[in-house]
Amino acid sequence: MIATEPVDQKTLDMTREILRMKEEMRAVILAHYYQDSIIQDIADIRGDSFELSRRAREVDADVIVFAGVHFMAETAKILNPGKTVLLPDMNAGCSLAESAPAHLFRRFREQHPDHLAVTYINCTAEVKALSDIICTSSSAERILSRLPGDMPIIFAPDKNLGNYVRQKTGRNLLLWQGVCTVHEQFSAQRIAVLRAETPDAEVIAHPECEGVVLQQADFVGSTGALLQHVQKSAARRFIVATESGILHQMKLAAPEKEFIAAPPDNGCACNICDYMKVNTLEKLYLCMKNRSPEITVEENLRIRALRPIERMLELADADAQQAADIVREIRLPFEA
Ligand code: 13P
Ligand code: SF4
Repeated sequence: MIATEPVDQKTLDMTREILRMKEEMRAVILAHYYQDSIIQDIADIRGDSFELSRRAREVDADVIVFAGVHFMAETAKILNPGKTVLLPDMNAGCSLAESAPAHLFRRFREQHPDHLAVTYINCTAEVKALSDIICTSSSAERILSRLPGDMPIIFAPDKNLGNYVRQKTGRNLLLWQGVCTVHEQFSAQRIAVLRAETPDAEVIAHPECEGVVLQQADFVGSTGALLQHVQKSAARRFIVATESGILHQMKLAAPEKEFIAAPPDNGCACNICDYMKVNTLEKLYLCMKNRSPEITVEENLRIRALRPIERMLELADADAQQAADIVREIRLPFEA
């Protein structure tokens, strides 16, 4: 029976209980940088989508508690099926994943059967299974530049990331027209004003932002790359155009520097991903206590989704010859 009554936070030290249960159930907690700071602090491993996938595959514990969104936890299950994978709230979705329903993506591939499909990890297991190679924001440029220059490629679902990597790699990309509703909100105009007011600040941005925002950026990268950049850069101030959860790690990594959340168009001071923020410490505690909600992936689907994800992990480290071998095993034209 799953306990649903509210937790009495006055009498229960949830942090201590989570740490105790973690030992008891041999669990490891993975957290994305957009999670609440209190969840990031309690996690064993923090990272961007690529790093969390890589680490999830290597986890040796019995249980993976995934503090992130559904597609991230689902990817962990696909890569490490012997583990129990828990997600604090099943409503932790993603606007990009929602923008690409599997039946429409399949039709798109059928309409362009000679195109290879490189798909952003922000998608469902069904869409992964219909793809040739998965990528993340940190690996997309490297993966695309490993593919033959004349090859027609479907890139889905994020058109902003697609446009950005098309410019960087010169590859022939046919873009799915999805967007992240959080990164779409940044106002290029308000960022320009802020930049004029703080001329010493660097603008740094996630590639899910619109081109007009990326054009103003001194540095563009995944959440992990942005975090590394602020530590290496000589700048003392940064205007950060991505979800504001990352500011927590930036402040910890470079406490002497100043981080200003880039302003969105919606009148708020900073940008929040509501999907990420449905996970709370209380839900993290409850999901461990109840061992639910649990991520399951039907085995036939898991196997079909696995190879495209493995290709991403392999291509990220591959030399030219290894990359050519990986691409050669992909069968075109596409057949569903
Ligand atoms: P990263 O791979 O940069 O962590 O991005 C994940 C994401 O969902 C960005 O919105
Ligand atoms: Fe999805 Fe955007 Fe939230 Fe990232 S920030 S999880 S892309 S909705």
